[in-house]
Amino acid sequence: MTKEFKRYLVTSALPYANGPVHIGHLAGVYVPSDIYVRYLRLRGRDVVWVCGSDEHGVPITIKARKEGVSPQQVVDRYHELIKDSFERLGISFDIYSRTSSAVHAETASEFFRKLYDEGKFIEKTSMQYYDEEAGTFLADRYIVGTCPKCGNDRAYGDQCEMCGSTLSPDELIEPHSAVSGSVPVKRETKHWYLPLDRYEGFLCEWILDGHKEWKSNVYGQCKSWLDGGLQPRAVSRDLDWGIPVPVEGAEGKVLYVWFDAPIGYISATKELTPDWERYWKSEDTKMVHFIGKDNIVFHCIVFPSMLAAHGGYILPDNVPANEFLNLEGDKISTSRNWAVWLHEYLDEFPGKEDVLRYVLCANAPETKDNDFTWKDFQARNNNELVAVLGNFVNRALVLTQKYYDGVVPACGELDAYDRETLAELGGIKASLENNIETYHFREALKDAMNAARIGNKYLADTEPWKLVKTDPERVGTILHTALQIAANTSIAIEPFMPFTARKIRDMLAVGELGWEQLGSTDLVAAGHRIAKPELLFEKIEDEAIRRQLDKLVAAKEANAAAENTQNVEKQKDNVSFDEFGRMDIRVSTILAAEKVAKTKKLLKLTVDTGIDRREIVSGIAEHFAPEELVGRQVLVLVNLAPRELKGILSNGMILMAEDAGGKLRLLGPDERTMNGAVVG
Ligand code: MF3
Ligand code: ZN
Repeated sequence: MTKEFKRYLVTSALPYANGPVHIGHLAGVYVPSDIYVRYLRLRGRDVVWVCGSDEHGVPITIKARKEGVSPQQVVDRYHELIKDSFERLGISFDIYSRTSSAVHAETASEFFRKLYDEGKFIEKTSMQYYDEEAGTFLADRYIVGTCPKCGNDRAYGDQCEMCGSTLSPDELIEPHSAVSGSVPVKRETKHWYLPLDRYEGFLCEWILDGHKEWKSNVYGQCKSWLDGGLQPRAVSRDLDWGIPVPVEGAEGKVLYVWFDAPIGYISATKELTPDWERYWKSEDTKMVHFIGKDNIVFHCIVFPSMLAAHGGYILPDNVPANEFLNLEGDKISTSRNWAVWLHEYLDEFPGKEDVLRYVLCANAPETKDNDFTWKDFQARNNNELVAVLGNFVNRALVLTQKYYDGVVPACGELDAYDRETLAELGGIKASLENNIETYHFREALKDAMNAARIGNKYLADTEPWKLVKTDPERVGTILHTALQIAANTSIAIEPFMPFTARKIRDMLAVGELGWEQLGSTDLVAAGHRIAKPELLFEKIEDEAIRRQLDKLVAAKEANAAAENTQNVEKQKDNVSFDEFGRMDIRVSTILAAEKVAKTKKLLKLTVDTGIDRREIVSGIAEHFAPEELVGRQVLVLVNLAPRELKGILSNGMILMAEDAGGKLRLLGPDERTMNGAVVG
């Protein structure tokens, strides 16, 4: 039996304000939740939808440090950018708040304090990594090392992004500080822990027994956490950015970001309405958390345990988490700039908000990771939006304009085919409702597009343009019917493509249409005048797609370059001009080369330095075969004090470049020149 709810409280994961929003966030969380909420509103349901920026946490402080600005400056910048770009895409939150707000600090502190006062935390002192050079404890992402599971040497203290494992700092192999690069020491520190183990029974009953209908990826993750047994989790950190732990003797400690952020849903609701408790504290409210799969444990295990510990709050009815969207076959990454950024898309494709919404929903990673490709984006636009939806609506309107001067013709007698078509249209509503309410948005979008497909087929089959000379009355009925289908289409697509739905209704000049009208055949009255038809969508040309692909290639190249810089040795201390001048470097030619007996690495080289012929012993036998060297012009430091190696006097040094992988390259003049030419 499904429970009847009186109202809805919808939350969408608060995006971190350390970068702009990209298509992965949109496909996973914000587009589906916007569809869901728009649908509920269309049905006249009582719903609030809250979101906001997640402004605490280590990545934000790392970014601030890197840019030499304060964390507040970082979050201010991204909060505005994110909020604005959501708005432009038509993501219609009732409130987009932020966790650096005063209301939130107060709400989160009170929440913590209540649990603290009631003895719901355990206090534990433990040894944690401390960076002596920077004078700070190293929480989460401040500590970097090698992942014990996959060997990635840039794993963080809380997670490995390569294999997705959740880690603790102690598991990292060869840990070092992300702040100073130094090797950290262990120091004693006190923290508060939420003993999740005490909530296992409650969670098993609530989720494993009570919510078998949850998506299998979500249910499965919960089950494996619960089967594995839960551990107490620290809810505080040694950091100077965050909400101070509201307890005596907790100086320098803040609430862990994953403790305060979900409380942000409550703060945002408070900020939105004085009536917030009606949403948060009544069993008649259906709460739904929209998130990505990396957030499952926090929304299904940790936050519900917090809510249960606090008491008085409802729990989510569902947590429809999505998998990840990749981009052109690669994991989307903010730090590697491998993404399609929403604000850039909006600037580069003005007026195509619905195209992105459509493609991201049609391709949403609902059951498995999916791939976004620009080719697919183009194909869906050209073959589906232009050829099906746009084409149908345009034809219906243009023909009405052409044959009836824009006045909706009367409906004559419907024939069997008309009735069949209209009946098919009537079936869409139930299917759409079922799919949206069970969070199957891709299927729902297909239902909605079916309205246009039905219309398209109807016009193609009835061919009014052929009948207009011989049977004008029939043409009137056909166009009347087609216009009804167009009006229905606008209702069906409204949650998915609100801008296009509005355009259709504006062209039909019908004003607002409600969900309950979906399936009706009298939405546009005979005699009513429609507005001038305009194209809903335009073809996207190869050129536009090529530009996007070029941008991605540029990002790849920039990454490769950045990677190189990271591997480059630090610059040595300065030398004076005089000091450099004392080095005597000459162009020389290698005349002979042979291995030094009983050694692996050494070659004996005879070189012509222009000054003289001399012998140099060089440790490059593993890199070059003797015959490769003979005849080459190289650079030789000729006044390096001679030294004996394996009984041979070495009189100078051949200069070489060594890359990060240890590979050696000879250096020489770009064109042959005289031996003895001075380098400097
Ligand atoms: N900022 C987190 C992320 O992007 C999500 C926070 S959701 C909340 O993964 F519930 F904590 F707010
Ligand atoms: Zn790993």
